[in-house]
Amino acid sequence: MLALMAIRKIAQIGHPVLRQRAREVTTEELQSKDFQQLVDDLVETMRDANGAGLAAIQIYEPVRLLAVEVNGNPRYPYKPKIPLTILVNPVIEPLSDEKFENYEGCLSVPNLRGIVKRVAKIKLTALDRHGAPIEMECRGFKAGTMQHEVDHLDGKIFVDRVEDPLSFSTWSEYDRFHREAFLKKAEEVIARYGS
Ligand code: NI
Repeated sequence: MLALMAIRKIAQIGHPVLRQRAREVTTEELQSKDFQQLVDDLVETMRDANGAGLAAIQIYEPVRLLAVEVNGNPRYPYKPKIPLTILVNPVIEPLSDEKFENYEGCLSVPNLRGIVKRVAKIKLTALDRHGAPIEMECRGFKAGTMQHEVDHLDGKIFVDRVEDPLSFSTWSEYDRFHREAFLKKAEEVIARYGS
């Protein structure tokens, strides 16, 4: 049978689907064709929209599944590479009290960025798309990306975590007024945490 990937619609802030807690994926479900199709569609949709990550809840499937990939991302050109990573039922444990400032955006929040403080070092445990266990330590921007995506699974959006509303900016005004200062900070984050 020919399986075709599909680009799905991305839910936008205000839609209630984004505000629920996504449910755990069962072992049985992982083995189903429907689930594997969902994973393929999630990746296709993320790539089409130039996302650094995408949670299944953002394509109206409220299960604990997300995809992350960064490779010269045009939305976040300063972010170090992350190979395509599929996480099922991910759990984050902070490994440090240190936080860093991340100028975030989201495919579910059109044309808005804002500064969010993220834990700088985390442990991430999850299953891969076939149910094999994954355990990794993430630092810096990679840790920030993971926290942003796992937040989606708990119905949270980055705007909830912006402490200073003065940091809210459209993408073009970010480029005009905030990018230069942020890129200097981003270099420090990368120097300190390696990613
Ligand atoms: Ni997002």
